[in-house]
Amino acid sequence: MFEGRIQDLSDDGLGMLEADGRRIYVPFAYPGDVVRVKKIKRRFGRRIARDFELVEESPLRQTPRCPHFGTCGGCLWQGLRYGEQLRLKSEIFERITGLTAEIKGSPKIWGFRNVSNFIVTAEGTGLKKHGNPLGVVDLKECLIFSKRTPEYLRALRDFLEETGLKPWNLKDKTDDVHYLQVREGKFTGEVMVNLIAHVKPSKGVLEAFRDYFSFANSLYWSLKRDDRDDPRGEAELVAEEHYIRERIEDVTYLLHPNSFFQTNSYALSLLLKAVERFTDGEKVLDLYSGVGTFGVWLARRGFSVEGIEMNPFAVEMASRNAEINGVKATFRVGRAEDTQIGNYDTVIVDPPRKGLKEAADLLVESGVENLVYVSCNPRAFKLDYEKHLEKAYRIEGAVLIDMFPHTPQVEAVIELVRRR
Ligand SMILES: C[S@@+](CC[C@H](N)C(=O)[O-])C[C@H]1O[C@@H](n2cnc3c(N)ncnc32)[C@H](O)[C@@H]1O
Repeated sequence: MFEGRIQDLSDDGLGMLEADGRRIYVPFAYPGDVVRVKKIKRRFGRRIARDFELVEESPLRQTPRCPHFGTCGGCLWQGLRYGEQLRLKSEIFERITGLTAEIKGSPKIWGFRNVSNFIVTAEGTGLKKHGNPLGVVDLKECLIFSKRTPEYLRALRDFLEETGLKPWNLKDKTDDVHYLQVREGKFTGEVMVNLIAHVKPSKGVLEAFRDYFSFANSLYWSLKRDDRDDPRGEAELVAEEHYIRERIEDVTYLLHPNSFFQTNSYALSLLLKAVERFTDGEKVLDLYSGVGTFGVWLARRGFSVEGIEMNPFAVEMASRNAEINGVKATFRVGRAEDTQIGNYDTVIVDPPRKGLKEAADLLVESGVENLVYVSCNPRAFKLDYEKHLEKAYRIEGAVLIDMFPHTPQVEAVIELVRRR
């Protein structure tokens, strides 16, 4: 048994306890808490508390709203007051990158997520337990997603009961239905339901599916052919519209089961405005453009935009997004590291978690004056900067946007300007 006061948080948001010369990482514990750790497991070289008793509460705490707090892997920081979450996010960002940045909070901290992927298992339907890939929290509600969560989950349970389809067996990797994905256009009220299953639906099953989810503005069945725990399959439209729409101020975006969209609709306008503020000149390259989230927004504001993205379907979506907003922006399929970076005033990069890697050297070799680096992984940014970008660019400004309330994650927008 280890007892003591949590002094600090790890970069991934776990409370850190120093006791008997050992460091123990305590999920769901915060600086100022006194904890008594009862069970420990080792993971990737760290000692992680599996169970602890809260002996004294930190003044940074608030009462979590969610009944699943403490087991659900969704919200590690729901027990922290929101102002403290923001302060700690910028402190961790500064510790990793050495940069001080203003942080902008999410305009809404409940019901802000526009998508949820509920895993459907024999143990329950909901989200994975924290630190336990084989454990599932049988959700009653999800306050960061939607007030309508109980309605969505009820429809699923009734549908399974009527059809006899079996929830996925996590241990044996067998049976029928693996995920229920629901997306909500927060500013349009539209709902998309996508069931990810290992079986093709019969006529009768499809009829029941349409009936139970008749509230959906877009209804998909996705056939999944692998046994990985991810909500992806071959999406086929079952009823209503191919897309639902989300509206961020004066820009409309189409959402589809197979395309990524920024998950916090309310904080997205803050992110877009931060990118816009750091964008200079007229000609802009949106590298890693996805569905054109930044590119279309900037084109709407008069910038001349080209986008490069590896995923052909995302490129198709980006072109559609440009079209429905009546803007001219050209999106092409390509790999960032194979792109000849021509004559642009600003290049925006929003790479995957691993960062830019080889593409960073192309930027250094280009003559581009301004770089806007969007990142949800400060470590990858730091590596890209120190190993490559620093040769040609200096950091002019940075702002953090809290796209992920109640978690340790934060999105950074960093302005880089070419050295003279
Ligand atoms: C973090 S997402 C950003 C998407 C977009 N900026 C947005 O906000 O919707 C990263 C994108 O980079 C794409 N991607 C990953 N590796 C790539 C590469 N080597 N070259 C080009 N695009 C890549 C992914 O398909 C994904 O769409």
